[in-house]
Amino acid sequence: MGNKIIIAIDGHSSTGKSTVARRLAKELGYVYVDTGAMYRSVTLYAMENNFINKEEFDIQSLESELSKINIRFEINAETGRNEVALNGINVEKKIRTLEVSSHVSKVAAISKVRTKLVEQQQEMGKEKGIVMDGRDIGTVVFPNAALKLFMTATAKDRAERRYKELIEKGEDVSYEDVLKNVVNRDHIDSTRKDSPLRKAEGAVVIDNSNLTLEGQFEQILKIAKDAIAKQ
Ligand code: DC
Repeated sequence: MGNKIIIAIDGHSSTGKSTVARRLAKELGYVYVDTGAMYRSVTLYAMENNFINKEEFDIQSLESELSKINIRFEINAETGRNEVALNGINVEKKIRTLEVSSHVSKVAAISKVRTKLVEQQQEMGKEKGIVMDGRDIGTVVFPNAALKLFMTATAKDRAERRYKELIEKGEDVSYEDVLKNVVNRDHIDSTRKDSPLRKAEGAVVIDNSNLTLEGQFEQILKIAKDAIAKQ
């Protein structure tokens, strides 16, 4: 009773998955892994090496350099947060721009990229006691996770949330572009051949269109504690 479990959280972009996942991990004393940050880091690598821009994407070059891409999570001593490092450099801030967001779905659709990252994610979950969020965690990475959540909200609500975040960070973006990005990413993520975003079997659906993240958190924490008590 009460053994550590794996909590898999999937859902559309900007549904507050990472906020919920991070808080849940903190409350439970679990490790939090943001798999979107891993796909974003590979995308940043592709951008920095000129493999991808608005017009072109040189998939072969990226695939041939995958072994050179090292992604690790490190605790930031100041914030206590698990942050992502690409080849030894903390890129937590750099991967959150709208430019990275506009390319990441194309990179995440490449099977060789997914295979590499999924293997690493499964390794991280070996000891359990982990909260992992992404798009394929309950369907592909940990189909046997003791608790799976699927988070969703309307595109409008999600775009508003993401727009606010970007503006607060000082990015010069328009709401229309952010909405376009949200809708476009949903489309690519849900229709790609390899591991499309879909609700995993047995996942609990959380629609937070009209809920504050705060109001929802208590409900999710209870679901998690019940799932742990059953182990
Ligand atoms: O959660 P996020 O917005 O940071 O994710 C960035 C992109 O990475 C998203 O558009 C889809 C992709 N992704 C994925 O394909 N599989 C995951 N497990 C996590 C993210």
